[in-house]
Amino acid sequence: MTFAIKVNGNTHSIDVDGDTPLLWVLRDVLGMTGTKFGCGMALCGACTVHLDGTAIRSCITPIDSIGTSAITTIEAIGATAVGAKIQKAWLDREVVQCGYCQSGQVMSASDLLASKPHPTDSEIDAAMSGNICRCGTYVRIREAIKQAAKSIERGD
Ligand code: FES
Ligand code: FES
Repeated sequence: MTFAIKVNGNTHSIDVDGDTPLLWVLRDVLGMTGTKFGCGMALCGACTVHLDGTAIRSCITPIDSIGTSAITTIEAIGATAVGAKIQKAWLDREVVQCGYCQSGQVMSASDLLASKPHPTDSEIDAAMSGNICRCGTYVRIREAIKQAAKSIERGD
């Protein structure tokens, strides 16, 4: 079946089964490999993208459920105001270790700060709890989110 999906501002016509997960479409059909496969069961967060600005797990999101909603992936999150602050903070704090989980971390953190500009530690932990990092970068992730929040507040 043919679907028209909007990814990072561009509309793509794709021919796949309706139950094909969005993650498969992004990576295998569109060649956008920044979004990662981890568990395939909504347990790790590696596949996180935004659907109309809200973080979702693309591994369990069938393509026929998306409709006209706008998808944003790690390839374009830096073009958003909050995403740019998050990515700068990630670099400043040297968050990344192996990197595999980090696109999902950035997508979840961007959703958090877009909806809650001044999160407490417990709110950060709650928002990021579904994103697993085998390298244990959690402390730096929290610091980077706080740095980005301060930068947004100052308006730098
Ligand atoms: S691959 Fe989607 S949550 Fe793990
Ligand atoms: S940086 Fe290696 S899994 Fe998170």
